[in-house]
Amino acid sequence: MIVVTGATGNIGRSLVDHLLAEGAAVRALTRDPERAGLPAEAETVRADLTDPASLGPALHGADALFLNLAAGGGDAARTVVDAAVKAGVRRIVLNSSIAVSEGPQDADNFLARMHGAVEDAVRASGLEWTFVRGGAYAANALQWAEEIREGGVVRDPHPGAATSPVHEDDLAAVAGAALLDTTGAHAGQAYVVTGPASLTREDQVATIGRVIGRPTRVETIPEEQAAEERATPGVPKEVLLQLFRLFATAVGTTAPVTDTVERVTGRPARTFEQWVEGHAADFR
Ligand SMILES: NC(=O)c1ccc[n+]([C@@H]2O[C@H](COP(=O)([O-])OP(=O)(O)OC[C@H]3O[C@@H](n4cnc5c(N)ncnc54)[C@H](OP(=O)(O)O)[C@@H]3O)[C@@H](O)[C@H]2O)c1
Repeated sequence: MIVVTGATGNIGRSLVDHLLAEGAAVRALTRDPERAGLPAEAETVRADLTDPASLGPALHGADALFLNLAAGGGDAARTVVDAAVKAGVRRIVLNSSIAVSEGPQDADNFLARMHGAVEDAVRASGLEWTFVRGGAYAANALQWAEEIREGGVVRDPHPGAATSPVHEDDLAAVAGAALLDTTGAHAGQAYVVTGPASLTREDQVATIGRVIGRPTRVETIPEEQAAEERATPGVPKEVLLQLFRLFATAVGTTAPVTDTVERVTGRPARTFEQWVEGHAADFR
């Protein structure tokens, strides 16, 4: 039995489908099974990763765990990892981040600190582990969907910031390979998983315009204004400002591109254009 946390998320949905297609028994966790819309072939179980009482039943009988700690941090990770050890889980595949470099620069990067703390908790568990250190998700472009639908103008503080956007299906395929591994090849690996090309945010917006057949452009706005406008209870202004400062350091750079998707899955990484083609309805 493979337990998938964040099963309703970007990677989680794709991973559940992938594991079911490979014939695995899957338990999909969500805080709200009624709204989750997960496949009937998966066992959908209510669990909240911040509520230790829900973890025992959620992990009971599991061999492997896909851990996506969107709700997390180091403390939450230790709670989940302890519950996994108690439940007899043998293997954890962790959704981590390219921000983690294990170098001194991690101290200055809040994403590296957050994901690094979770990695530490998984390493300390003594269980077999694989880290999927994803680059910026192609799905982050959905944050522009409303602006593109309503006139095609995306307002952004750092349009020149470069990332190598990665398709959620590729992240799921790499995680799936590690979860289903029978050879031990993926144990103890920290995979940096990116898309196939470095693109600026402006390039991404232009690609969306090309695919949907409508003009799009980017207008630069101050960080402060963008953070004010986009803050939500889940993602407060201070977090957005930290994120924008990371984007500022990526302006004028070329983002790293890895061959992990091809090495692990045998298929080339999907392009951002392919991602947009699959999500075009969100932008029209
Ligand atoms: N966005 C990027 O570019 C990027 C890059 C690298 C790494 N990451 C990391 O990827 C992770 C996921 O990010 P995402 O924004 O793409 O989110 P997501 O995985 O698409 O969605 C969040 C998921 O977490 C679940 N969740 C939230 N709170 C929960 C809780 N208390 N208990 C159980 N499940 C909970 C939600 O499920 P329910 O609502 O169904 O419970 C949902 O499935 C984050 O840790 C992020 O730092 C993101």
